Amino acid sequence: MTVHAIDTAARARGLFAERFGAEPAGTWSAPGRANLIGEHTDYNDGFVLPFAIQHRTHVALGTRDDGVIRVVSTFDDSAVEVSLAELDALFPARRDEVVEWARYPLGVAWALLAASGQGAGSVVGVDLAFASDVPVGAGLSSSAAIEGATSSALAETWGLGLDRIALAQAGRTAENEAVGAPTGIMDQMASMLGRADAAIFLDCRTLDAVVVDLGFDAAGLELLVMDTGVSHSHATGGYGDRRASCELGAELLGVRALRDVTVADLPRAAELMDDVTFRRVRHVVTENQRVLDTVRTLREQGPAAIGDLLVASHASMRDDFEISVPELDTAVDAALRAGAVGARMTGGGFGGAAIALVAHADVQAVTDAVTAAFAASGFAAPTIFPVTPSAGAGRDG
Ligand code: GLA
Repeated sequence: MTVHAIDTAARARGLFAERFGAEPAGTWSAPGRANLIGEHTDYNDGFVLPFAIQHRTHVALGTRDDGVIRVVSTFDDSAVEVSLAELDALFPARRDEVVEWARYPLGVAWALLAASGQGAGSVVGVDLAFASDVPVGAGLSSSAAIEGATSSALAETWGLGLDRIALAQAGRTAENEAVGAPTGIMDQMASMLGRADAAIFLDCRTLDAVVVDLGFDAAGLELLVMDTGVSHSHATGGYGDRRASCELGAELLGVRALRDVTVADLPRAAELMDDVTFRRVRHVVTENQRVLDTVRTLREQGPAAIGDLLVASHASMRDDFEISVPELDTAVDAALRAGAVGARMTGGGFGGAAIALVAHADVQAVTDAVTAAFAASGFAAPTIFPVTPSAGAGRDG
């Protein structure tokens, strides 16, 4: 555990003591994630290759005997308190009555009770205090980190006997129903299953997950996040539109999901649909293939050989899926010109962050080049930092 992480855990415990006047019974945490490749493939039943990062959300938990769940956090002053028995009435119908950040932990509590078949009356009330060092709005899934910390803490405290996949699914249910963002399962699975120095190769149809060694450090490489500072929300606008286009494409092709379409089917797809829908489909189909190619390349040749796949992924998101923004393109182009092995936007798009795979010796040059390119374009300065493939959710103390 890094010093960083200990600090955040201590902040969660400190907040618990300050706001609830007691010591917590335990602390749990879950990481954010970066996606190496496989974007907008998860809700198409396809493949993704994310990894958990070193930034985590920590939660300190104590029990209470009145059937109430109360949540506080270091990132918002509000405390929210609700009877566990009321969660069913609150979600999804009356979610707007809950302050936004609290929809994540309360939504997870609601989803866990539903998934485990437990009535609210059969579990103990809880106080939860959250602290996080996952950058918010950077496309690094601060939301999955809150969900993973909450589900780990509650499932253990309530003795629900759910496995990690079920906890990831409860996180996704919270995000879809309690928050209203129509996202896939990638982020929650990455946060639950992450391993040091490895990515998770996930089949989003079967939820089969395979750990794939990354070996960045051994190859003399670093993975930089270039946070554009451009904020995005997946509960509104473009994300849902892209999802609808994919569903339309699958329907026109007569398949259950775009997972069932291969690159060889694309000429036929072009005949069956309008140009915009076709380009959305082409992104997903080629991106699925790029995930498979990346996994094979990592195994056979190591991480220094995946650069072209990352670059092709970015071009596909920029030109076919149209979810990039000028700041993301600038970051990717400047990083590549300064010697990055590969670079692409990561996450849902419309803002957030890009990643760049960079040799240790080139990190400063890439950082300087991206910063200079932003200044030359009149963009606010980006935040650039390395991320380390890290362990998934669990109990800390
Ligand atoms: C967001 C969603 C994920 C996934 C990505 C795009 O991060 O939460 O489910 O769809 O966008 O790959």
